[in-house]
Amino acid sequence: MCKLRFVFYLLMVSVIFTGCGKLSQTEGEITELAIIPQPETMTLSAGNFTVKKRTVICYNSKELLPLANFLNSKISGALGFKLKTATSSRNGINLNLRKEWDESLGDEGYKLTVLYNNIVVEANSANGIFYGIQTLLQMLPPQIKSKTIQPNIKWNIPCAEITDKPRFAWRGLMLDVSRHFFTKEEVKAYIDQLAEYKMNVFHWHLTDDQGWRIEIKSLPKLTEKGAWRARRVGDWWSREPRRKGEPVTYGGFYTHNDIKEVVQYAKERFVEIVPEIDVPGHSMATIVAYPEISCTHTVKDINVGNKFYTIDENSLCVGNDTTFEYLDKIFTEIAELFPSKYIHIGGDECYKGFWKKCPKCKKRMHDEHLKNTKELQSYFVKRLEKILQSKNKKLIGWDEILEGGLAPDATVMSWRGMKNGIKAAKAGHNVIMTPTSNCYLDLYQGEPSVEPQTYSMCRLSNSYNFEPVPEGVDKKLILGGQGNLWSEAVPNFWHAQYMTWPRGWALAEVFWSTKENKNWDDFIHRVETHFIRADYAGINYARSMYNAIITPVYSNESGFKIKLSTEIKDLDIYYTFDNTNPYNSSPRYENPLSVPLNATRIKIITYRGDKRVGKQITLRIDELKKRLPKRS
Ligand code: ACM
Ligand code: ZN
Repeated sequence: MCKLRFVFYLLMVSVIFTGCGKLSQTEGEITELAIIPQPETMTLSAGNFTVKKRTVICYNSKELLPLANFLNSKISGALGFKLKTATSSRNGINLNLRKEWDESLGDEGYKLTVLYNNIVVEANSANGIFYGIQTLLQMLPPQIKSKTIQPNIKWNIPCAEITDKPRFAWRGLMLDVSRHFFTKEEVKAYIDQLAEYKMNVFHWHLTDDQGWRIEIKSLPKLTEKGAWRARRVGDWWSREPRRKGEPVTYGGFYTHNDIKEVVQYAKERFVEIVPEIDVPGHSMATIVAYPEISCTHTVKDINVGNKFYTIDENSLCVGNDTTFEYLDKIFTEIAELFPSKYIHIGGDECYKGFWKKCPKCKKRMHDEHLKNTKELQSYFVKRLEKILQSKNKKLIGWDEILEGGLAPDATVMSWRGMKNGIKAAKAGHNVIMTPTSNCYLDLYQGEPSVEPQTYSMCRLSNSYNFEPVPEGVDKKLILGGQGNLWSEAVPNFWHAQYMTWPRGWALAEVFWSTKENKNWDDFIHRVETHFIRADYAGINYARSMYNAIITPVYSNESGFKIKLSTEIKDLDIYYTFDNTNPYNSSPRYENPLSVPLNATRIKIITYRGDKRVGKQITLRIDELKKRLPKRS
């Protein structure tokens, strides 16, 4: 049993024995704390603080007034009223900046004390107070997440003492707004949702082959042409390219004012926005707008999700000095709009075939004594680093920027596993870990036949079990980690939330909580409470963790057998081979199954006790056989 839960268990026993009575969720009181990410230390005691109309939010520094207002904005919808705010200290909800620095709390930590008649959130910084407020909000009944008045709820917060701080400084989520455009309101909602789980970086993937999404006043065609494409649905990479004369009506972009508004919104939630302009590859939208900075000047249409890689050009010409003049203009505006010290320049998956044939690129390689196109890319990244440095910004790139030689002060985002992150850290560079197998939120999160179509697999447990610090590297160089939501198969915000939660919650705990405080079963228990909270908030999430995992395995007796399992414990799996829908009196799975003669399908369902929890899965036996690992 997890230590915290054990302490809590003892305390609950004491709650019951001290006569406070059994608490029940339906009356709006919570029977246990379910905080994500798990705090560093937490002790509960008997009793509750009850938020009432007369409760006052007190703050001891003017700097904290926006946070008092933030707290009010988060609870007033469900309460139906706003709490008074005051600078004086009295019994109520006290937000206190410490006068002396408490080393144990660091930059972002907080201490939260809830007594039956008073609450104190204390921290060295406003960031810490913000995270204390987020914890406090999670201690209120789930109905608090509703935007409409919830009558007859006792707004109890259990008495407790919590001290907490993050493990990593970089706790990020990335959203790709190029493959599909998300409105500024949706982006703000995403930022609000990640901040609730104490994440503090929003990596905004603003440009790619399928759309340029940010106004650049000095290069207006980037959005006039680059933000719009022909409208398509259907499987990504199998779509029909734009037809001749077809209107380009699908897309969108953010104006400077939109960006300023989102940056301010993020700042109020202590979220740093790191903009990404993906170059020199992934640049089809750029070169459709300005063909003169490509090698061949031939690409006319923005990609709609049709196959093009290696066929149509999507890289910038590195031999042309105009390319760097345009990049200077772009990054001048980016640097002014985003206060972050970082700018992400992409650098990933650059197709270099057109460079090999381009006279200007060949001349550049000759003049600069570059042996191959990897070194040409490295030349590009190093030159770009100088441009960013001239604007007081630091360069981040995907791990391909290691190829051909890393720019001197670059930070590396390791996505093709951890190996390139390790290599960069060993060379003394800062690293953000975001390997596909644990952090790619665009991948399947459960049995593919019952999920919207995508590719590969990253289960909730893969995200939860992620350890960002590999052995043998200086842990100070691992700034933290990040979940990435690429949006090829994410055409709307409802689905973006489905792909993000609960895996984003798992990553939030990986990046915030101590390794010792992580516990899978306990996390799942908390996730289930947060599903209820998300329901009240109208936030979408995936219940894929309840679905069965189906694995065909080779067997000597019968050729192959079917192994069934679940990601979480305490579920029963029922199945049929007779083409009827299984229920909880169907055969219950115990051991790997041999397929009965002539069976064409297996149907599977999961229950917890007498409640069906997973989706029904139907798989054809011949399809299932194809999932057997290839024999060498
Ligand atoms: C990437 O997934 N191409 C960074
Ligand atoms: Zn070229």
